[in-house]
Amino acid sequence: MSLRVGIIGGGQLARMMIAPAVELGLDVRVLAEQAGMSAAIAATAVGDYRDLDIVREFARDVDVVTFDHEHVPQDVLRALVDDGVAVHPGPDALFYAQDKLRMRAKLAELGMPQPVWAAVSDAAGLQAFIDDNGGRAVVKTPRGGYDGKGVRVVSSADEAEDWLDALEADGELLVEELVDFTRELAQQVARTPSGAFRAYPVVETVQRGGVCAEVIAPAPRAGDRLRDMTEMIGVGIAQGIGVTGMLAVELFETVDERILVNELAMRPHNSGHWSQDGAVTGQFEQHLRAVLDLPLGDPSPRAPWSVMINILGGPESDTVESRIPSALAAHPGVKVHTYGKAARPGRKVGHVNLSGDDLDAVVSDARGAAAHFEG
Ligand SMILES: Nc1ncnc2c1ncn2[C@@H]1O[C@H](COP(=O)(O)OP(=O)(O)O)[C@@H](O)[C@H]1O
Ligand SMILES: [Mg+2]
Repeated sequence: MSLRVGIIGGGQLARMMIAPAVELGLDVRVLAEQAGMSAAIAATAVGDYRDLDIVREFARDVDVVTFDHEHVPQDVLRALVDDGVAVHPGPDALFYAQDKLRMRAKLAELGMPQPVWAAVSDAAGLQAFIDDNGGRAVVKTPRGGYDGKGVRVVSSADEAEDWLDALEADGELLVEELVDFTRELAQQVARTPSGAFRAYPVVETVQRGGVCAEVIAPAPRAGDRLRDMTEMIGVGIAQGIGVTGMLAVELFETVDERILVNELAMRPHNSGHWSQDGAVTGQFEQHLRAVLDLPLGDPSPRAPWSVMINILGGPESDTVESRIPSALAAHPGVKVHTYGKAARPGRKVGHVNLSGDDLDAVVSDARGAAAHFEG
């Protein structure tokens, strides 16, 4: 009988696990938040992932439970583990991906390089941090943020007044130094429950308005020193936290060539979409192999350069699908991936991947293809 993988969360990451699951002969079940989501093409149950009864019922006949997001509450995760369900990544690891303050404290314990940071609970504490760190800082809500929501650059505590006011009695915000980075990088590592691991090449990511816009793999101008350092950080975190499945470590490279950890994701990640077409083993297949404790695949690039460009929905935009023929006709080497989502301004609705020998040519061809979906 086929191995059964239960994925909690019905977004595009779950959707993109389905193709490699079919290839590997796996049976995928998805617990989606609502009907008609990106992953609705697989056998899908709809229900609240915070409801233990619903999650328990979903987990009953699968061989492993994994995730499209990190939001399943700890008590639900721990109840599944107590029931004997294989949950990967497990609650002890996810604990640090669910809350940016816990993550910062754990990274400090592991000796990982990171921005200067503090937990603040009131305006006086926030203002003191800002004053001590050059008059500006980055305030973050510890939970539930994505695509730049929950991240704000401030030069005075007033600018975070709404978030401070909304804090519960023992609540805290994360505040970090505003890092003067030259670029952002991401390091991905796959790790199995048995402890095997494989590291992907470090990539460069470009964010616009807090949203990942483009990824170049491998990161240009990445020498041995940088590659060794980011790999050591990625593997060190995967092992130190006991991550199973894919781990993405978002990084800053600074003017003085330091590498600082920005944040962690314990699942396939936007920075790894290039690998679907640009690596021997794509991140979605690798995640499935890892959580099932199967042998990991080769993460090597298939070409000197791969570029991924996100397609964002716009107000004028008709469906992504309607633009595909013109994009394919003009850019036959490009691979288009769609998420089955209605376009909304700024919402990620798909991406394009392209690989080749000449970076400038690959970037311009990929941008040209992505432009077919704009406006
Ligand atoms: N301490 C910082 N200094 C400078 N820029 C930052 C800092 N933290 C975050 N950013 C910028 O904001 C983006 C989003 O922040 P991040 O913590 O990764 O939140 P999200 O969960 O929305 O991805 C980062 O990719 C980076 O561009
Ligand atoms: Mg981020």
